[in-house]
Amino acid sequence: MKGYRLPKRLMLGAASSSAQIEGGSIDHNWMEWERKGRLHDSSSFSNACDHWNLWREDIDIMAAMGIETYRFSIEWARIEPRAGVFDQEAIARYREEIEYMLSSGIRPCLTLHHFTNPTWFERRGAFLYPGNVKTFLRYVGLVVKCFGDLISDYVTFNEPNIYALLGYGGEGFPPGDNNLVSSRRVLSVMAGCHIRAYEKIHRMRERMGYQDTKVGVALHMRAFAPLSPMSFLQRKSIEISKWGFQDSAAKAFLKGEFRFPMQNLGGFKKGIYCDYIGVNYYTRNHMNLPAGDLVRPQDPKSDFGWEIYPQGLAEVMRELRAICPKPIWVTANGICDDTDRFRSLYLYDQLSVLVQSELPVERYYYWSFLDSFEWLEGESKRYGLVHVNFRTQERTVKKSGHFYREIIENHGVTAEMTERYVEGENYHQ
Ligand code: BGC
Repeated sequence: MKGYRLPKRLMLGAASSSAQIEGGSIDHNWMEWERKGRLHDSSSFSNACDHWNLWREDIDIMAAMGIETYRFSIEWARIEPRAGVFDQEAIARYREEIEYMLSSGIRPCLTLHHFTNPTWFERRGAFLYPGNVKTFLRYVGLVVKCFGDLISDYVTFNEPNIYALLGYGGEGFPPGDNNLVSSRRVLSVMAGCHIRAYEKIHRMRERMGYQDTKVGVALHMRAFAPLSPMSFLQRKSIEISKWGFQDSAAKAFLKGEFRFPMQNLGGFKKGIYCDYIGVNYYTRNHMNLPAGDLVRPQDPKSDFGWEIYPQGLAEVMRELRAICPKPIWVTANGICDDTDRFRSLYLYDQLSVLVQSELPVERYYYWSFLDSFEWLEGESKRYGLVHVNFRTQERTVKKSGHFYREIIENHGVTAEMTERYVEGENYHQ
């Protein structure tokens, strides 16, 4: 195994989301979901990583690892706990954290929406109703007003396709509507929100005198393959699934091109509504109609049961580049590996795929910085570079975290590092 250099322009970072790390008893839709007993174990969002209190310590660890940029989200329910009521203390606390990040040499990238809604917004139907767009935009305005002087990089939505499909098309995520018509509508309303937010953030920051604003959306993209490459039916079903799951949304969000199942609910014009292409990539699905998608038994799997297929990152990045000519930000990529037995190998493989793709990738955000609260799976699934003991809140940088620190330091992987960290790791262990 050889070493390699990373592209000069690439910044290396890590990502998280507020509900997954902050803890506290906050009135958001996932807390309500937890109260309804919908999580798979008995852990609670109110615990998580207690980052709301331990933020300084966490940023210090990040800085010691050399993390160049950090993608995090604001918890809307914290800063607007009731409709139109703004919590100045929570806003001041976020400002303090962002200022500390900056003074530690870490470039912040702010996600406005990462799966959670304030309960009051959820009760009004959230993104099911185009009438709620203005409420979301008021929140966007509040965030830019409060933090716009500190932050130039924004992600409007994290994985809107997952939010809409699992929460509305299925019943796993809140509100569990199980209705594909709602799911289609929610995703269409969100695309409109994204376009309006893209324009609004630019407008506001320009008025503040800043010219360096970057706004995008983090799309969840999967690689797809037919179980039998010769089967016409399976190849066709992939085209349809890919279109419904990701490509139709990518066209609407990035370019204002609305084609079935997406609906243009706001008379949006075609254009370019992003400064970068945000992509979250984790896995590949095999298609086997009529049974549906699956992971083949012979393929390596993460502790989440997802196929480990690093090459898929290049496949989805190429797909997105064919849709939109902007540079790429890998807004999330990581692996569920509860005992850190192959995360270093995964990082090595994933970054090497990125290098070999020769695509213009400007950012790589490893998901996630800390072991965090994994939605339905709670504390039981670990993606972090830093181990969290959820009882004592003790943090310990994992072996893969040290590997990442050295990757950042060298802006690449040396042969000696490969020997020390990667050799001997194996996905099939
Ligand atoms: C989501 C995260 C989640 C991770 C692993 C990402 O795509 O944005 O919130 O923890 O997937 O499931």
